[in-house]
Amino acid sequence: MRADMQADPSAQAEPAAGEQVVHHGAGVGSTPQWKLPDEGWGRKSADAATLHEPQNIREYVTMHQHLKVGGGTRLLDVACGAGLAVELATARGATAAGIDASARLVAVARDRSSGADLRVGDMRDLPWADGAFDVVTSFRGIWGTTPEVLAEVRRVLRPGGLLGMTVWGHVKASPGAWALRPFLWADASRLAHQAAMNSLGKPGVGEQLLTGQGFEAVRRVAVPFVWEFADPESYARAMACTGPGYEAIQTIGEQRFLDDAAELAAQHVREGLPLRAEINLVGFIARNPATPGAVSSFLAEPVELSAGASAAYADDEAELGYVMTATRLWAHDIEAMESLFTTLGRVTRTAGLSVRDRGILVTAATSTLGDSYCSLAWGAKLAAAASDQVSAGVLTGDDSLLDERERALAQWARRVAADPNATTDADVRPLREVGYGEAQILAITAYVALRVAFSTVNDALGAVPDRQLRTSTPQAVLDAVTFGRAPAPAAGPDSP
Ligand SMILES: C[S@@+](CC[C@H](N)C(=O)[O-])C[C@H]1O[C@@H](n2cnc3c(N)ncnc32)[C@H](O)[C@@H]1O
Repeated sequence: MRADMQADPSAQAEPAAGEQVVHHGAGVGSTPQWKLPDEGWGRKSADAATLHEPQNIREYVTMHQHLKVGGGTRLLDVACGAGLAVELATARGATAAGIDASARLVAVARDRSSGADLRVGDMRDLPWADGAFDVVTSFRGIWGTTPEVLAEVRRVLRPGGLLGMTVWGHVKASPGAWALRPFLWADASRLAHQAAMNSLGKPGVGEQLLTGQGFEAVRRVAVPFVWEFADPESYARAMACTGPGYEAIQTIGEQRFLDDAAELAAQHVREGLPLRAEINLVGFIARNPATPGAVSSFLAEPVELSAGASAAYADDEAELGYVMTATRLWAHDIEAMESLFTTLGRVTRTAGLSVRDRGILVTAATSTLGDSYCSLAWGAKLAAAASDQVSAGVLTGDDSLLDERERALAQWARRVAADPNATTDADVRPLREVGYGEAQILAITAYVALRVAFSTVNDALGAVPDRQLRTSTPQAVLDAVTFGRAPAPAAGPDSP
């Protein structure tokens, strides 16, 4: 047995691609530097695609969920490997693209997703136009040693678009730390480089890098990450087809690597259960800021305001000190908006909803829809009526600070907003159990549906959340709203 098998792993984690990715320059012989990862990651591409990559599936699904990847999302996966994440994004309805340095892994990705735009290339020079994507993902592909990639990511993201990336977290503290130990069998210079690559997961480091690169609303999210293997030999093969596994193989030789890795895993075999290695992973969600001076919606403001619209502008000025973008948009038919709000008032009374109740219903529904405008405006109201934590919790799907009745409201609002055709009688039961009668349940449902209608009109017509929401909304709420259109940029020194 190798002496270091018993020790804690000294490196924090697995490098993404080996030394090749960091050093700019000519590369080896006639091969450019960025192509070198193909040697490690691509040499056993079928093993990488079937034994290694499917292990990461929980990570892909969780990040796609956080990023609300769905029908029509234009998504790029940077360092896409053999393309399983691209395939899963496509299955959710996204129009997906991917790039990786390994030609042999991209060949697998193309085999998996023939309709996706998959390219062999260098992530520091993305071959797509400015603003081409709504979402960019990178799963353990962007590291502390590759910050320049983030400038490229911002360039190809549309204003307000989202980046979701993962990096290793506190690997040493993970129950499955043992599974990364074979990567420590590389020589000392490679290990030193691994440590540099794995800094982003440390508290505040990733946040600082992303903010420094101009991203906003940077949020750290928990990402489940578990490797499972049928037996020690499959584990050893799955490690041998990775870039850092290859670095260790270059140091100790392939057969010894396979033998030692299988011997290591044999210590973790459990009768009738797969080998299991749970590893701490960190996810970051960050937003590309909106363009200064961008229009506030797709419609021009009416040239002449009706008497009703003028009154609505005056009401906004008196109440908020500015005219909301939504009011400017609905000024084309202010009576339609007022009828909607009259009906909202009626069902509010029937259901007996307090401001706090309405804050819960609106934020649960609009965060499900991905509508940032009403999530921010009502997130601030809910924070005032309850607390910043309650508001941020509901916006991110955490109802632990709500009581039973409020939880029933939040869960029903999400069901209605997500898919009203998928509800069942069992979904309505919690509302009855907390004391709501039939007329009240109708009123609560109508309240959510009318709010969804209001959000849909605003979102479809490109209404950008008012810049004043940047300062009037508590930070915890701003941080929780990482979806939808970013608020208009804060006023510069020359702004009126
Ligand atoms: C840790 S793997 C992650 C792969 C994939 N995202 C996954 O979840 O399995 C790192 C990937 O980065 C790729 N890579 C390394 N340097 C690169 C570069 N300069 N440009 C594009 N891809 C690169 C490697 O080929 C490898 O597929």
